[in-house]
Amino acid sequence: MRQVMYSQFGDESVLQLTEQAVPSIEKDQLLIRVKAVSINPLDWKVYGGEMTLMSGSKFPKSVGIDFAGLVEQTGSAITQYTVGDPVMGLLDAFKGGALADYIVVKATDVAPKPANTSFEQAAALPVTGLSAIQIIDQLAAVKANQEVLINGATGGVGVFAVQIAKKRGARVTAVVSTKGVAAVTAWGADTVIDYTKQRLDQLNQRFDVVIDLSTKLPFAEAKRLMKPRAVFVSTLPSPVSLLSSFVNNLFSGKKHKILILKPTATGFSTLTKLAEDGLQIVLDKTYALANVQEAYREARRGKGIGKSVIVMD
Ligand SMILES: NC(=O)c1ccc[n+]([C@@H]2O[C@H](COP(=O)([O-])OP(=O)(O)OC[C@H]3O[C@@H](n4cnc5c(N)ncnc54)[C@H](OP(=O)(O)O)[C@@H]3O)[C@@H](O)[C@H]2O)c1
Repeated sequence: MRQVMYSQFGDESVLQLTEQAVPSIEKDQLLIRVKAVSINPLDWKVYGGEMTLMSGSKFPKSVGIDFAGLVEQTGSAITQYTVGDPVMGLLDAFKGGALADYIVVKATDVAPKPANTSFEQAAALPVTGLSAIQIIDQLAAVKANQEVLINGATGGVGVFAVQIAKKRGARVTAVVSTKGVAAVTAWGADTVIDYTKQRLDQLNQRFDVVIDLSTKLPFAEAKRLMKPRAVFVSTLPSPVSLLSSFVNNLFSGKKHKILILKPTATGFSTLTKLAEDGLQIVLDKTYALANVQEAYREARRGKGIGKSVIVMD
């Protein structure tokens, strides 16, 4: 079978299409025939060698976290799935491996593919959808009538964060570049700020929740946008940020929470329900597996809206 691997850290040129044996499964595992894999910023942080503390430095390594596909084979202890079931899921973010014709997963790593989605759309759901749910429903615990600012609202997580915050009854201010103004308005944002034309530090409004998905808004700067008991959510955990947020949260009414994605069965079922209720899944571009380097290069350049997907043709 085909699998994308790399043997050194670097840019997209390290990603190589290799031939590997189809893996075998244990009794509590499933073999999935992968149909589509979506691209996440974490992928290039890992193969770029920025996350060695979590990923380790042993080679070869493989790529791809989010996938959708068909159950090809089930272990003897599997009762929830049968051969041919369409599923979506995610692999360990720091090990990757989804960019392969076949992958081995545990039943807890997958969920049934929402009925109204294509494989490409379903592959774009797990990491960003579960992240958005964890941010909106748990870390920020967004409530009706709250003022929520989402910085980076047209990226993978932002697309869902805007829609879920609106579903929870919040008033959403979305911060995007010019290309995203019309899209984020269509997803329900109440106010749109084009960050290429207006600076956040000149905004007079104060928010109950500030979410930074761009990694460009530090807590120190977010504070002046926050009401006295507001929550700030950022998405880049590091030993320094985790420690400083812990200390801050002991003494300040303005809380700093940091996303560390923890996929759960409840998260998956919320995500499936949202998708089946019409959550918009926004795909930027789709690529054939043979064009994997180009796919990652373009996704990293970041000119589109929503998620890029690689199709296992
Ligand atoms: N900790 C975890 O467990 C976890 C889980 C999932 C994701 N993440 C991280 O969360 C972040 C968001 O993920 P994602 O998939 O949504 O990434 P993404 O698709 O790359 O989106 C990033 C967004 O930031 C916007 N942006 C860039 N510069 C900006 C600026 N100066 N001001 C405002 N917005 C700006 C981009 O918009 P334009 O293209 O218009 O500039 C884009 O919409 C990533 O860093 C990802 O690695 C962490």
